[in-house]
Amino acid sequence: MCGIVGYIGNKQAQDVLLHGLSKLEYRGYDSAGIAIFDNGGVELKKSVGRLANLAELVDGPDRIHGSQGIGHTRWATHGRPSDANAHPHQDNQGNFTIVHNGIIENYMQLRDELTAKGHTFLSETDTEVVAHLLDDMWTGDLFDTVLAVAKRIHGAYALGIMTKHEPGKLIAVRKQSPLIVGLGEGENFIASDIPAILEYTRNVYILDDGEMAVLTADKVETFDLEGNPTTKEVYEVTWSASAAEKGGYEHFMLKEIHEQPRAIRDTLTGRISEDGQKVVFDEIAWPAGYAEKIDRIHIVACGTSWHAGMVGKQAIERLTRIPVDCEVASEYRYREPIVSENTLIIVITQSGETADTMAALREAKEQGVRVLAITNVVGSSAAREADDVIFTWAGPEISVASTKAYTTQLISLYLFAAWLAQERNAAHVSEIPNILSGLKQLPELADMALQTAPSIEAFAKNWAEKEHAFFIGRGMDYAVSMEGSLKLKEISYMHAEAYAAGELKHGTLALIVEDIPVIAVVTQEQLYDKTLSNIKEVKARDAFVLAVAFEGDEEIKKSVDQVIAIPRVNPFLSPVISVIPLQLLAYYASVVRGNDVDNPRNLAKSVTVE
Ligand code: G6P
Repeated sequence: MCGIVGYIGNKQAQDVLLHGLSKLEYRGYDSAGIAIFDNGGVELKKSVGRLANLAELVDGPDRIHGSQGIGHTRWATHGRPSDANAHPHQDNQGNFTIVHNGIIENYMQLRDELTAKGHTFLSETDTEVVAHLLDDMWTGDLFDTVLAVAKRIHGAYALGIMTKHEPGKLIAVRKQSPLIVGLGEGENFIASDIPAILEYTRNVYILDDGEMAVLTADKVETFDLEGNPTTKEVYEVTWSASAAEKGGYEHFMLKEIHEQPRAIRDTLTGRISEDGQKVVFDEIAWPAGYAEKIDRIHIVACGTSWHAGMVGKQAIERLTRIPVDCEVASEYRYREPIVSENTLIIVITQSGETADTMAALREAKEQGVRVLAITNVVGSSAAREADDVIFTWAGPEISVASTKAYTTQLISLYLFAAWLAQERNAAHVSEIPNILSGLKQLPELADMALQTAPSIEAFAKNWAEKEHAFFIGRGMDYAVSMEGSLKLKEISYMHAEAYAAGELKHGTLALIVEDIPVIAVVTQEQLYDKTLSNIKEVKARDAFVLAVAFEGDEEIKKSVDQVIAIPRVNPFLSPVISVIPLQLLAYYASVVRGNDVDNPRNLAKSVTVE
């Protein structure tokens, strides 16, 4: 996820681009760059880090003059955050200048092909191949060349393109990644998102998937990727700039909850073989024989990432039969954990910067133990210091309460469990194709689970004045209950506790009184009857029970007060789906209670102190 912006008109492009990028920093801030047509040439300035660094570079006498340009704010995917990897990118002659949001999946193949033809690559990015390809395939006409290049690149992309061959023209292409065109008087704009251009115009074209736009200062024409003209309706933006930044959602958390189908899809992309039989993890480079030798795994993490680890523990144990411990990092690091050269440490961290998790990682490395990091942030400390990294392609998560990072961590852990079973030819390896086919259905099922939002909102309105809640479940459902309970605490400030359903009777049942809310997660078939008995125990004490269960489960309806039905899914994978109503429940409870949802009191997104 990156942000792109482009301008052609009569204003100084630098001002428009920097302003636009400032509104897109939520899409990533690993580096920023702009390129502007200046006296017949293109001047390019880029800098690692936040936009402020770039703004300083082009301040005062260093200002770039010109009224046509493109800009980019990066969330690193291919290649760490650096000046060289920052966009815009150019071909070796500097004929073409481009910005890109998305992933060019066949970039390695294209890069090899172009290198053999004499192109020299200056960055580690997938994007740079597009600039070189444009130069290589130049037909003498920008429009035709872009169409030809679009046929050669696979993956997701929003591109902003300009060339010295045809000044006074900007081309924007959209495949999957979002892109809009802003329509002005004697000026036009492109951007990844509406807030970038809202200061200048409220009239936009929202490009469709597989559509491109050709912009001059006075005209915008749109086409499909075969070059046929398309007709567009002008969309008039009526929201405020701050609402637009959140994509029309009231809070980043709600937006991020709704981004989960897309985030899950991105995390799966390229990691399942085309025949659907195997997991492909090119990023893990273990020494020969290491996979067979592992005899113990320690998962170490904090907060929500730790809860993802609790699911991961069960998934890895089930598929590989390797014993897995999952522990909070602040405890793990101080208890002299017993490790050997055959232990694998997995650290899970959205930010890749959490102090406790990083300390555990460093401790493990000091003892010579191999560390695999599962993280969302390329270039983070965890990504740089671990031996191997699995990136969760969730995109930047802004809200303090983690949602899409959690579900993509789960996806990564399921993939890893299946991959390890496959590498070791474990007893359960025959189950893998079925699990992989289940994983591929999850984006669609997550979308269906989001449809529970209105009923959860209605429930939260009547319920949110309560002060206590209990979450219960068994097995994977217990792990999800822990996350549901944490979410509620974090943002609604209600006291909540998660309990293994079978453990409740050993003390905590004393707290179950009339009307106390108990949220039961009931998706594990083999534990269904046992959980039902525990639900009956709390119902007998007049608790109010809300169950999260599969649609079509008639039995549960007879035993509880209300059911939130989620689509049926392989119970092994159900946490990815069952957590969604719990995230929504916490969200709406927080809204009803009038809290600051995205910035809950006392908490921080990334905790870099002990
Ligand atoms: C903070 C955040 C939590 C997060 C935890 C671990 O406490 O508020 O939402 O789960 O850190 O963060 P990490 O970036 O390591 O996953």
